[in-house]
Amino acid sequence: MTYILAIDQGTTSSRAILFDVALRPVAQAQEEFPQHYPASGWVEHDPADLWSSVAATARAAIEKAGTGAGDIAAIGITNQRETTLLWDRASGKPLHNAIVWQDRRTADTCAALKAAGHEAMISARTGLLLDPYFSGTKLKWLLDTIPGARDRAARGELAFGTVDTWLIWNLTGGRVHATDATNAARTLLFNIATNAWDAEICALLDIPMALLPEVRDCADDYGTTRADLFGREIPILGVAGDQQAATVGQACFAPGMMKSTYGTGCFALLNTGADMVPSKNRLLTTIAYRLNGRTTYALEGSIFIAGAVVQWLRDGLKIIREARETQPLAEAADAGQDVVFVPAFTGLGAPYWRPDCRGAIYGLTRNSGPAELARAALESVGYQTRDLLEAMRSDWGAEADGVLRVDGGMTASDWTMQFLSDILGAPVDRPVVTETTALGAAYLAGLQAGLCPDPTEFGKAWALERRFAPRMSEADRSARYARWSRAVQATMTV
Ligand code: G3P
Repeated sequence: MTYILAIDQGTTSSRAILFDVALRPVAQAQEEFPQHYPASGWVEHDPADLWSSVAATARAAIEKAGTGAGDIAAIGITNQRETTLLWDRASGKPLHNAIVWQDRRTADTCAALKAAGHEAMISARTGLLLDPYFSGTKLKWLLDTIPGARDRAARGELAFGTVDTWLIWNLTGGRVHATDATNAARTLLFNIATNAWDAEICALLDIPMALLPEVRDCADDYGTTRADLFGREIPILGVAGDQQAATVGQACFAPGMMKSTYGTGCFALLNTGADMVPSKNRLLTTIAYRLNGRTTYALEGSIFIAGAVVQWLRDGLKIIREARETQPLAEAADAGQDVVFVPAFTGLGAPYWRPDCRGAIYGLTRNSGPAELARAALESVGYQTRDLLEAMRSDWGAEADGVLRVDGGMTASDWTMQFLSDILGAPVDRPVVTETTALGAAYLAGLQAGLCPDPTEFGKAWALERRFAPRMSEADRSARYARWSRAVQATMTV
């Protein structure tokens, strides 16, 4: 048998899934690792945890499949994006914890750069906005804060990387310092039109370019693993940021196709083909994938809190013990109550971009209880997705497919998917394989290895598990969405 190993390094856990060459999952392993919150709005990961959890889950998945490393033809890597690492090239030792994408510590830096009028130039080149979400200002913070780091960086002694780059470095024993175009596109330092690091932006942020990794295609040669890791050198042949890997896994290869992934947050990507569509509605323009040197672009809407709202019901409010309890609770909620929950725990992402905003709940009565809160929490995911799709429709025009392919943990809830379809007024398609992120990484590696078919053929194998069609009346949909929009406006003015 021949297998492809997909490594999926996410925000709260690392996973490894072994696929056969028909891209059927054969075995998997998962490991959570600690989150560090050193100050309000700060989120860090220990780089050693990221690496050790990846190495352990990869070994565990191989062991569970009862196969040997000799049967693994290729490795594909997908990862939480934007999270920023800095390490010493000679020792491989990190200089600081990884600063996670959710971390807001550079909000003031972003505000100052915006006030100085730099956002238009940065947006035009990177497709991004001046928000702490992206790596650039996080890297600047590290260089500003760690004594001597900037000088050492200028001398070429240090390496910067997003999580993919850190994993490739460790997997290859420090032989390869590389990233792929989709991860580079999230750094705020990469010009997505020219496909090159942007010297002017690096100079503006005072980032020595000697730090930066080489940028390769998503299906490309990223070197081989150290022989001692798995008993044999295995080629790393695919890399993509997790949302882009999910776009590939969902086979959204044609312009107008879109997918939305529901994990901690929610990320919707609309394939815009060879066109780099600038957003008038504060969405991101980003790289969907780069294959054979050809870039396919996407419009992306990023919501920071989706599944995390259910975690809050469980760990914060303690009104549920397990995520799946939310569905029966939502079904039992009083239809006469209009509780609206704006889960802006870490600010609002697209299309509002308000890092300063915090969450709010409206419409509480003395009868409001866990059921109404659970329903409002699940509904907030649908409303936020509609915010993104409204913005996408307006940016992209009429050609968008209108069908949304969904994946991620929350899509297991039929109730949530039905509400999503109702509030969007559009079909929502749930595929048979919802492990689309890992699937996308495995496919990219398999493509490069010559084991998987071209994108068109791969797309034909995408299989629908269930389509959710809208059942809500137009009047009801409009009234509810208007109420949500008023609640968001109110939250932004508090
Ligand atoms: O942009 C952040 C995103 O890549 C993180 O995804 O699935 O780890 O929450 P996830």
